[in-house]
Amino acid sequence: MIKRVQSWLNREDRQTPVEISPDNIPRHVAIIMDGNGRWAKRRGLPRIVGHQNGMKAVKRATIAADELGIQYLTMYAFSTENWKRPKEEVDFLMRLPEEFLALELDDLIAKNVQVKMMGDADALPSFTRRAMEEAVARTENNTGLILNFALNYGARKELEDCMRAMGEDIQAGLLSPEQITADLIDSRLLSGGLPDPDLLIRTSGEMRLSNFMLWQLAYSELWFTDVLWPEFNKEHLLEAVAEYQRRSRRYGGLK
Ligand code: IPE
Ligand code: IPE
Ligand code: MG
Repeated sequence: MIKRVQSWLNREDRQTPVEISPDNIPRHVAIIMDGNGRWAKRRGLPRIVGHQNGMKAVKRATIAADELGIQYLTMYAFSTENWKRPKEEVDFLMRLPEEFLALELDDLIAKNVQVKMMGDADALPSFTRRAMEEAVARTENNTGLILNFALNYGARKELEDCMRAMGEDIQAGLLSPEQITADLIDSRLLSGGLPDPDLLIRTSGEMRLSNFMLWQLAYSELWFTDVLWPEFNKEHLLEAVAEYQRRSRRYGGLK
């Protein structure tokens, strides 16, 4: 792994030399992919063209993350609040997983990527849900990068559902209040089985979480960039990782 990262870091097509240490690569990177609409608007184009180009950035980020040796990549693709947008835009966004996977799934499989999804799948249109289910099923035995799409995801809903389910289990005598620990909550959230993100990236200059992984991001390093999502490329990812490596993670202790 380290060798592979090093050879990639030395590649000639790298534009800016960024110092990256191969032994402190964040294990889990989560990205709030923001700025598609503004990217399009600046070009005098409809917002959906921004989403279309944002899809290409998803592919770029996935390949770059894989080459860098990141093990988990979570992408915030659609929030539980994004239903408030005009119907045409929501419809377009709901078609994107299908389009993305039709174009890219074979290549992702060839790269040994495992696709996952977290979010309320039941509320998705059937074609969106089917596309995601197919991608998850066809990659479930892959052992490479875990590409986790947050689709119709909202952290408050995730926590609300988790707490309600635990309440029901207590009522049914299946769980006692003493058994509710941070580990149990971790395992019962939609991200169950994934480590917490080490690094959160948000593009487009906004500095907020917008209801993303409120529990899991408790000790993540946060990195914000003005770059709009459709422009995001591997150099930006390297920049983020380089900055991550300069941070001192203390978790409340001393270093
Ligand atoms: C992010 O881009 C994609 C989604 C939220 C689905 P936006 O669509 O939020 O783009 P801006 O923030 O309006 O520029
Ligand atoms: C967050 O972006 C959601 C996704 C990137 C999917 P938004 O554009 O929806 O967030 P706000 O509305 O600016 O907080
Ligand atoms: Mg936005």
